[in-house]
Amino acid sequence: MSARRRLSSLRNQWDRNTLAASIRLWQGLPTRSFCCHLCLMHGAGRAYEAPTRRSPVKNRAGSWKGNRKPLSGFLAHHISIHKITFMNFSFIQITDHHLTESDTVLLDGFSTRHAFRSVLKHIAQNTGTNVDFIVSTGDIVENPTETAYQSFLHMVNARNASAKIPGPISVSTEGLLNLPMYLLPGNHDDRDNFFKYLFPKSVSANLMNAAFTHKDIQFICLDFGPHSKAKAHSETLDFLSRSLNVNLPSIVLMHHQLIKIGSRWLDEFIADDIHKFWNILSGHNVLGIFCGHIHTTYERIINNIPVFGLRSTACPFVMQDEPLACLLPPHYRLVTVQNGILSTQVFEVPL
Ligand SMILES: [Fe+2]
Repeated sequence: MSARRRLSSLRNQWDRNTLAASIRLWQGLPTRSFCCHLCLMHGAGRAYEAPTRRSPVKNRAGSWKGNRKPLSGFLAHHISIHKITFMNFSFIQITDHHLTESDTVLLDGFSTRHAFRSVLKHIAQNTGTNVDFIVSTGDIVENPTETAYQSFLHMVNARNASAKIPGPISVSTEGLLNLPMYLLPGNHDDRDNFFKYLFPKSVSANLMNAAFTHKDIQFICLDFGPHSKAKAHSETLDFLSRSLNVNLPSIVLMHHQLIKIGSRWLDEFIADDIHKFWNILSGHNVLGIFCGHIHTTYERIINNIPVFGLRSTACPFVMQDEPLACLLPPHYRLVTVQNGILSTQVFEVPL
């Protein structure tokens, strides 16, 4: 197939997928899932913003209705990607489980363990058979005791708990069977116990910076420390810099958030010197950054890189200036890498 026909085929495929997803969004899915296609190739050399709820379909001239905005940098980004033969795959992000030691222990009256099980069950029944792995972006437990980590391993019937950082461990529970799960620590996770119980064959460290490669995509797991406020440790930044020298497209996974979302107490958690992080990423092929920590789902494009936050499987926070938790159904994010283009879909899990 010629390069022109291949590009046309890709474009038509994405047009169909995007149109179908947009119509589903417009109608409202029973599962209340929704799409955020950040990368759309349309026409010869033009990139557009994803259609919004106000602009779900094309007009007769073949253009998306509503505003369209060229995404500078994305075009070169994707053209360079399409020169590589990619294997397509999907994975799931979950985050901030704050699991207690037992089912009888609640967190402010909320059963984090029931919510976590419900999310895994929803994955097993709806998406799990089509994904290669799950990744948790931290705060596995609420209080990082030995019992809490042992209880987590028991909950997920973990096998291969002797894997090295960042996993995967093998999860078999709530209908899942031997699904690989990668684990990152959050600020609630004690690094000593995290290593000791989840990755006993890895050498314990104050920070867990690690990377793995899956189907020609490098996943870089970064640790901004065990405190609510992130710190851009030189060790973490050096690891990021070294990892990006590998000639593969990368996806960055981390616990702490990178961007302000308009809540004073949460926005203060961003590392003071976060500009160093962005400087290192500049010029590299990063498909997306996935974060947790602030228990909230959001999507932004920063420096031409899609940044995704995700609601916790535990209690989310109210978006206001003072701390306040609330009751909302958990989210998880299905991420698909197809022909080097990343798209995501968020699922809401009724409790
Ligand atoms: Fe958390």
